[in-house]
Amino acid sequence: MQLWGGRFKDKPDDLMKQLNDSFRFDRRLYAADIRGSIAYAGAIARAGLLTDEECQSIIDGLEQVKREFDEGRFDVQASDEDIHTAVERRLTEIVGLVGGKLHTGRSRNDQVATDLRLWLIEQIRAAQSALAVVQAALIDKSEAHLDLIVPGYTHLQPAQPVLFSHWLMSVFWAFERDQERLDDCKRRTSVCPLGSGALAGTPFSIDRAGLAAELDMDVVSPNSMDAVADRDFIAEFLFAASMIGVHISRLAEDLILWSGPGRRFISIGEQYTTGSSLMPQKRNPDSLELMRGKTGRVTGALIGLLTMLKGLPSTYNKDLQEDKEPLFDAVDTLSMVLPVLAGVIGSLVPSPDAMRAALDVGMLATDLADYLVERGVPFRESHSIVGHLVRRAEERGITLDALPLDVLREESPVFDADVAAVFDFERAVARRSAVGGTAPDAVRQQIAQARARLRR
Ligand code: ARG
Repeated sequence: MQLWGGRFKDKPDDLMKQLNDSFRFDRRLYAADIRGSIAYAGAIARAGLLTDEECQSIIDGLEQVKREFDEGRFDVQASDEDIHTAVERRLTEIVGLVGGKLHTGRSRNDQVATDLRLWLIEQIRAAQSALAVVQAALIDKSEAHLDLIVPGYTHLQPAQPVLFSHWLMSVFWAFERDQERLDDCKRRTSVCPLGSGALAGTPFSIDRAGLAAELDMDVVSPNSMDAVADRDFIAEFLFAASMIGVHISRLAEDLILWSGPGRRFISIGEQYTTGSSLMPQKRNPDSLELMRGKTGRVTGALIGLLTMLKGLPSTYNKDLQEDKEPLFDAVDTLSMVLPVLAGVIGSLVPSPDAMRAALDVGMLATDLADYLVERGVPFRESHSIVGHLVRRAEERGITLDALPLDVLREESPVFDADVAAVFDFERAVARRSAVGGTAPDAVRQQIAQARARLRR
């Protein structure tokens, strides 16, 4: 059954039909489509367009169609152009001609926009839960290893010592911003287009607010032309998903570096690595490489969608059918990657000896400059004094802490014997106790704050 054949003489060309049909990918919207239709049947019945019996028979029929999909026994017909036509075709087979009343005042344009929104709200919730599991894994790891100090890097160069936990928590906060973006996107997705018709609105007295409430959506769309054209919510979701992807990818890169032969600060659970078919000694961090790699498809989905949208004239155009595959792919990618990431984080085992061995006294040069600052030397001057000392130590082939006090005093008479205390990584970390710093107390405070955020 075709829904729009009335004015046509010729059948669509076979290849045109393949291009046009979206059932093969939009069938996954079936539950949302049927949910929207059940609510719509009630709304048109209340508008006097269906009798109570007709309404009940349509609802029973729709529930049967849903069961057929749920149980994998929905019988697809060649004429099933998309999920909307397929459900209506089957409904009419089950309930007879009255099924044809369901589409009164409705268009696939407001229908598909409603379906996508309903479907995406569920997916956003699922993504948020999966992301929260990753965040919890980060907090647990941080809390378990509050005593470990590692080099902190800028430009990939060792910079200043930090707590391993502080680094782990830095990733937590990036994901927390992603949670906020998803909250925000969920709010703008929870807008009900049903009752907008093809583009101009509905002539029937449909209680749109009641429909939105029944579908658990926050508000109704205020303009029917915008309602059928708007895919901002998909673009926003794809941006939020891309940002999550970018955060995952950067974390994966760090974990690859930190577990690799150069550093060996951590090891990744064997279950998340694979071997080489040729080199027996290899154990490769494929899980992390795949996470880094899959980010490309999510950012690709975002750019593809925006490119599809950018030249569209107002209201619905069939180009919009191309919104689904990138969205589905991004959702599938996230739902596959996030649980693996949580597992990888849980499996991390730190190597305190390797971390300790990588701590280079040079990373305390700032603390040495601060020593002078605390004794009244302006920072610019102390920076240059310590710079000279670094060079002199290098010339002698020794570390900064091995320079004799008289050499230090040649550069500044402010130096005294108590300067020896500066060369202590624990002390350097503990000094950075202002909010957001790497001192153990500041990190504990951060962890408490993070746990509170996660409980919401
Ligand atoms: N399958 C279509 C889509 O995904 C449904 C809307 C069709 N609307 C239309 N006017 N042809 O966008």
